[in-house]
Order: sequence, then structure tokens, then C-alpha cells
Amino acid sequence: MEERESLKKIVSHSKEYGFVIPSSEIYEGLNAVYDYAHNGVLLKNNIRDYWWKSMVQINQNIIGVDSAIFMHPKTWIASGHVEAFNDPLIDNKDSKKRYRADVLLENYIEKQKNKIDKEVLKAKKRYGDKFDENEFINTNQRVQELNTRIKSTNKRMVDGFKKNNLKEIENLINELEIKCPVSGTSNWTEVRQFNLMFKTNLGASSDSNMELFLRPETAQGIFLNYLTLQKTSRMKIPFGIAQTGKAFRNEIVARQFIFRMREFEQMEMQFFIKPGTQEQWYKEWKDKRMKWHLSLGFEEKKYRFHDHEKLSHYADAASDIEFNFPFGFKELEGIHSRTDFDLKSHEKLSGKKIQYFDTDKNESYTPYVIETSIGLDRMFLSVLSNAYFNETLEDGSSRVVLKIPKQIAPIKLAVLPLLKKDGLLEIAKELINEFSSEVNLSYDEKDAIGRRYRRQDAIGTPYCVTIDHQTLEDNTFTLRDRDSMEQKRINNKDLKNIIEKELTLNSLLNNLK
Ligand code: GAP
Repeated sequence: MEERESLKKIVSHSKEYGFVIPSSEIYEGLNAVYDYAHNGVLLKNNIRDYWWKSMVQINQNIIGVDSAIFMHPKTWIASGHVEAFNDPLIDNKDSKKRYRADVLLENYIEKQKNKIDKEVLKAKKRYGDKFDENEFINTNQRVQELNTRIKSTNKRMVDGFKKNNLKEIENLINELEIKCPVSGTSNWTEVRQFNLMFKTNLGASSDSNMELFLRPETAQGIFLNYLTLQKTSRMKIPFGIAQTGKAFRNEIVARQFIFRMREFEQMEMQFFIKPGTQEQWYKEWKDKRMKWHLSLGFEEKKYRFHDHEKLSHYADAASDIEFNFPFGFKELEGIHSRTDFDLKSHEKLSGKKIQYFDTDKNESYTPYVIETSIGLDRMFLSVLSNAYFNETLEDGSSRVVLKIPKQIAPIKLAVLPLLKKDGLLEIAKELINEFSSEVNLSYDEKDAIGRRYRRQDAIGTPYCVTIDHQTLEDNTFTLRDRDSMEQKRINNKDLKNIIEKELTLNSLLNNLK
């Protein structure tokens, strides 16, 4: 039997097995800041590599950039972040806890939706085969009341934020009697806006000092370089520019492990298109990104789209790919139709022409942009929570196993000599020497073989290779599969084949084409 584990278990497993550790731990740590240990770095690099290659390597019309974290402060005026990159915050006076007002309201709406699901489930049980779900939803009084409540709350919330009417948001929270989960009271402060950008200073002396922001998204580095990159690569529209790198946000509520951090990494791609074609490209990139997630082989039902009603200042359409984390469905990636907002704003503030010259039509225009934006750390958490299993085996014993897709597993192969004598160590080392330039391997000679297998299961190593006395005779070794735990005898050539076919990114990338 397999049992899904909670976030708490994933957090402690991550620490124990060298994936993610609290930052500055010897000084009691730093809230919502984490470091990646050896296995964590390897997994993170593999995910990033897969994303990068799926963008830049297999698409001939997507190029890469690595722009600086420090950018001219005017960048953030033009992008709208100085003015609008705010979270509406509200404090509970009794618990002194701070919340995002929009999150309180969205959670309230989610609760009403759960109530509808429960009503439907109850009725399904009562009516059995005769049950017509659509008819029930359209006619049941309680369900209709809940639906009306959802619609009116959503409308008031969206209108309130659109008009920046924070008093209306505060009234809504009070009228709905939303309670603080800690104190259980509705004793709220007023709602205030809080800018999420971190400030820092460039320059040594006070007169040459320039106040900068740490970038809250990598996308602006792409917009600022758009024209130079387009010209130097001689790209024609439609084309994309991809970038991975750190971003920083002073999140009001940073929690749920590496889901919401103050320093995190993004993988973003801006796809430049002809105005008027945005609907088609938006759909295309939504499909492509969902395909990318599903290519890793996890259950389809763990992913869903959530189309936005409350749009960011730059977007005319936006959708999230949500993943069912241990704490419920939450945003994993955003796909945004960003119009020409950014390029036009930078053109205006810098006074430099930032356009595309269509040589076929002999005309210039400001391209529209479809953006795909995913947090690497969030992707890492989705892989871990998908992969973590606590299994009870046939003999009654149990094991914790990370069923990470083989192609992105941190360690691909463990080489295990059965004994430390009779020349088995030497053969193991030769094997490592032969394959270590192709994949990350680990070597373990300590403890009984069963315990060594368990250690590899816990870090998600797809295959263990055991060297034993038969190896001395016929040059074969045992290959043990992480998921099925089956064992078979293979030789060097077979291993080479398995590495090429199953353990590199090639098979994943081929499926995307
Ligand atoms: N350039 C668009 C942009 O930044 P976003 O929806 O604010 O859009 C994109 O962020 C992605 O970045 C999110 O879907 C999420 O995966 C990741 N992300 C955002 N804030 C994060 C945080 N505080 N910690 C970890 N990941 C975060």
C-alpha cells in the first residue's frame, strides 16, 4: 500500500537526505530562506536543464539571456512595479498575525466551493445511479445560495481591487465574518498596500549613491535587452527569449516551505508576436506548458488550469497551471498575455525606440508578448511531493522512496560492491570511472546491501548496480530497479544502453517535439 505524506514529512526528509536545509541555521535560521544541499542542487540543476533545453535547445526560434539582477531603477517605474507591485495586507488585532486580504477572500470562496462539492457528494450517495449532477447543481436551493455567494464575493473583490478601493475589501472581509485561523476572531485592522520590492544601494559615497531594487521578476531583463538580442540573433517574429535566475520579493506571508520564499529562482520565457495574434499564441503556450509538466509522468489529475479574473497591471489574459501540493491546488506556473505594455512603457520612459521592423511588409510595430513564468523552487517542491511515497512491502517492512522521474533524479546510478574484498572494490571503481562523465553516480560500500538499497531509495536513485563474485567470472552485475525493486543481470553494454535511453534528458525532450 502506498500512502501520500504530508508537507511536514517532506520537509524533514529533505533535510535528512540532503535536499533542502534552512539557511543560516547556526544563527537560528532566516524566515522563509532555504539552502539547497548536494542532492537538492543536483535535482534543481536537472529541472532547470530540462526547462532550458525544452525552450532553447529544441526550439530554433527561442534564444537565451542571462541579465544582471541589478537594473536601472527606472526599469521598475516603467514596468509598473513601483506603483502597483503591492499586496493588500490586513492584520488581526488579537493574534497580531498579518494576512493578504485577497488570499483571505480567495480562501473564503474556496470554502464555499468545497461546501458545494460536499452537497453533490451527499446527493450522489442518496440517489445512486439516477443522480443527474447538472440538474442537481441547477435546482438545489442550498447549492444555488452558495453559488450566488461565490459570485457576489468574487465580483465585489475584483471590482474593489480594480478600483483600488481598499475600504470595500475591508468591508467585505468584515461582512463575511472571515476569522483569523490563529485567534478565531474577526477583529481586523484596515487594509493597506505593501510594496514587495527589496531596496538596496549602489555606490560607496553618499553623493554617488543610487537606490536600486532587487529584481522581483527576471522578465524585465528580457524586455530591456529585447532589441539588441533580436538584432544580434537575427530573429524574426514570432520568437522567444528565455532566462533563468534569482528574483526577490518581500512576501508578507512567506510559508509552506519553498513554495513561497523571499529569494527564489524563476524560469521565464517571453514570446514576441504580432499584435492581434495573442489569443492563438496564448492558447498554444498554455497547451505546450501543460504538456511539459505531464511529460514527467506524474498523474494528470494533479494539474489544472486556473484562468484569472483579477489580472495584473500588464496582462489582457492570464492563467495559472495549478498543482495539487500537500496543502491543496496552488499556482505552479503562470502563462500571461502581456500585450505590448512593457516594451511601450520602456520606450516611453527611456526615449529609445523599441520596435520590430518587419522586412517583408516594410513596417515597424511594437510586438505583443506571451510570457510563461515558473518558479524553479516551486517546481522542485511539486516534484518532491509527487515523488514521495511511504510504502509497506510484501514482507511487512516499509520503505520511503522518492519516485523522481529517472531523467531528472539527482543521482542516476549507485555502484555497490557486495564485499570490500576479492577485487570487487576495484571493479566498482572502474565502473564509476567509465560512466561518471555521463551521469551523476554514487558509491557506497558500507552496511548490508538491503540498507544500502534503502538509502538510495530515499534519495530517488533509479538504479543500483551491485558487484558480486559472479562479476569476477562473467563481467555481469545486478541491476536493481528503484520502483519495482526487481533485479536482473546485465553487462557493461546493457548499462550503457540504459543510461542513454532512460537516464538522460533525451527521451523527455523527444516527447515534446
Ligand atoms: N514575470 C511574471 C511573474 O513573475 P508571477 O506569477 O508573479 O509572475 C511567476 O510569478 C512564478 O514565479 C509563479 O508561478 C511561481 O512559480 C514563482 N513565484 C512567485 N513568487 C514566488 C515566491 N515568493 N516563492 C517562490 N516562487 C515564487
